[in-house]
Amino acid sequence: MKKYLVIGNPIEHSLSPLIHNYWMKKYRLFDSIYEKRKVEEKGLKNIIEEIRDEEIVGVNVTVPFKKLIIPFLDELHITAKETESVNTLFKVKNKIVGYNTDEPGFASTLQELFPDPKGNMMPTLLEGKNIFVLGAGGVTSSIIYALEHQGARIFVSNRTKKKAEELKKKYTKIEVLDWGKRPSVCDIVINTTSVGLTKDEKISIDFSDCSGNKNKLFYDLIYNPKETKFLKEARLRGNNTMNGQRMFLNQAIYAFNLWTNITPEIDDEVIKLLD
Ligand code: ATR
Repeated sequence: MKKYLVIGNPIEHSLSPLIHNYWMKKYRLFDSIYEKRKVEEKGLKNIIEEIRDEEIVGVNVTVPFKKLIIPFLDELHITAKETESVNTLFKVKNKIVGYNTDEPGFASTLQELFPDPKGNMMPTLLEGKNIFVLGAGGVTSSIIYALEHQGARIFVSNRTKKKAEELKKKYTKIEVLDWGKRPSVCDIVINTTSVGLTKDEKISIDFSDCSGNKNKLFYDLIYNPKETKFLKEARLRGNNTMNGQRMFLNQAIYAFNLWTNITPEIDDEVIKLLD
C-alpha cells in the first residue's frame, strides 16, 4: 500500500483525508491510502524517517508544524524557503523535500476571483487596491507572498504586533497597523487568524462604512464553519464574501499533483464532501 498522511495537532478536524481518498479512488489509485495522524513535536523526526524508509510516500503538514518541520528536511522548494512554511513533504532523489502548496493554492484562487482580462497569469485587477490582512500566523506569509507583486497596498495587523513586524522584515512594503486599527479604505479584507473557528468568536473591527458595497471583498481562510461571524457580518452588510474552501481545494490539488503527477479535478462530488 502507498501511504499518505496529514499530520498536525489537533488533527481530528482535518478534511484532507476525505478529499485525497476521494481523488485516489476517482483516479483508480487503488493501492493508495491517505490517513490523519496526531503527532507531537518530538514525533516529527520519526515522520521524516518513515518517508525516508518509504513507509510513507507523502505528507501534508498542518498547524502547528508548518515551520517547526523545516529543520528536519533535506531541502526546501523555493516558495517554502521564502515563506518559511511547509505544508507538503515528498521524497525526491533520496532527499526529503518540503513544499508550500498553500501559496499557489491561494494564488490560483486569486486568479479565479480576479481573472486577468488579457489572460495574463497573474491578476492585475488588484492594482491600486487596499488589502487588509488580519493575522500574522503560520499561513499569513503564504498569503502575503502571493499578493506581494500585484500592485496593491498591503496592510497587516495582528494581535501580537511583534509577529506582524517580523513579517515586515521579509515583506518590506507591507504596512503594519496596531490590532483594532484599520486602513481608512479597505477593498479586500482577508482573515488569516483562527478567530471564527469556534462559533461566535468575532473580530471587533468596525467595517460599517463598507455597507451596501458589493465591490468590497471579505475573505476568510476558514472553511469550517462555512460562514464565520466575520463573513456573516460582511454578507449582511451587502459585501462580497468568500470562505477558504477554494484555497483548501487548490492547495490539495497541488499536493496531489506533486505526489501522483495527476491534476485532480474539483467536481461537485468533492465539494459535497466538504459541505
Ligand atoms: P501560530 O501563530 O502559532 O503560527 P496560527 O494558528 O498559525 O498559529 O495563527 C493564529 C493567528 O490567529 C495568529 O495571528 C493569532 O494572533 P497572535 O499572533 O496574537 O496569537 C491569531 N489569533 C488567534 N486567536 C486570536 C484572538 N482571540 N484574537 C486575535 N487574534 C487571534
